[in-house]
Amino acid sequence: MDFIKDYALFLEKEIQNIKFPSSPANLYDPLSYFLTLGGKRMRPMATLIAGDLFGASLEKTKFAALAVELFHNFSLIHDDIMDKAPLRRGKITVHEKWNENIAILSGDVLFVKAYELLSKNDCNHLMPLLACFNRTAVEVCEGQQLDMDFEQREEVTLDEYINMIRLKTSVLLGAAFEMGAIIAEASEENIQNIYSFGVNLGIAFQIQDDLLDLYGESDKVGKQKGGDILADKKTILSILAKSAASEAQKTELINLKYESNNELKIKRSLELFETLNVKENCTLVMNEYYSKALKSVEDINVNNSKDKLLTLFQILKQRQY
Ligand code: IPE
Ligand code: IPE
Ligand code: MG
Ligand code: MG
Ligand code: MG
Repeated sequence: MDFIKDYALFLEKEIQNIKFPSSPANLYDPLSYFLTLGGKRMRPMATLIAGDLFGASLEKTKFAALAVELFHNFSLIHDDIMDKAPLRRGKITVHEKWNENIAILSGDVLFVKAYELLSKNDCNHLMPLLACFNRTAVEVCEGQQLDMDFEQREEVTLDEYINMIRLKTSVLLGAAFEMGAIIAEASEENIQNIYSFGVNLGIAFQIQDDLLDLYGESDKVGKQKGGDILADKKTILSILAKSAASEAQKTELINLKYESNNELKIKRSLELFETLNVKENCTLVMNEYYSKALKSVEDINVNNSKDKLLTLFQILKQRQY
């Protein structure tokens, strides 16, 4: 477990070293604000761990790790605009503290900064790293678009949902592991296996995120409780609720879209979810993906210990925020 603290300290120091100019303040202040709000830093941790597993030092993998974290933070700043979220990591979101235009533009700068960091890698790794990063960045946008498209739809199947979260969330975790493995010059097969581990873990991670949105302790989670319900998101909760509902319950669930009293909307959703065993059923699906992730770990063929990988897995599985 101690390595987690060391890696976390290492990452925080590196992130603090990323300096922005003082002017224009409205472009750069939001970035310093956002990057110092904390966050679990699990994606850069994944890159460092994958590198370590296949024999690359932290100094070698840190640029890719930081690039992934910056990309993630960029995606969160824009995600909060799209989701109309007031809170992130327990603090006011960038578009609320400043405004939407500022959040768009400072997010864009962060995206470019991610590439700047990625380009610090050795020339011989740059092409595969860029191929991985570019493919993933486009997939995240595809996932985010599907997420928004689904808000307008009444019916979304579980398969469609899993595909959407694979794109918006899981491929980035997969890529974080993949980039560490690329830098450590792991075999193609192992690169593929650690990527699959990340993708399966990422799917479970997003299901857990959906659960925490409603059932988590809001001062730990740091986001608006029930935000997904208020935004009419098609989360695993709403999808499994609809598939277990009677016709009358289904109609009520669909009509909750028109409830303008936020408190009532969340309260009634919670009551219906309770009756329909939603939390338990979501947990079952989530655990399927945690198991798939563990299966992918077994497929990784390496002499070094996989303990760090498994520790990260446990931390994510047990997280409360
Ligand atoms: C939030 O990611 C966005 C999702 C993909 C669910 P995290 O829960 O990793 O956010 P931070 O970085 O720890 O705040
Ligand atoms: C976010 O999914 C995925 C990306 C940022 C790409 P969510 O919208 O569920 O993430 P949170 O709950 O706001 O962190
Ligand atoms: Mg979102
Ligand atoms: Mg969101
Ligand atoms: Mg969420």
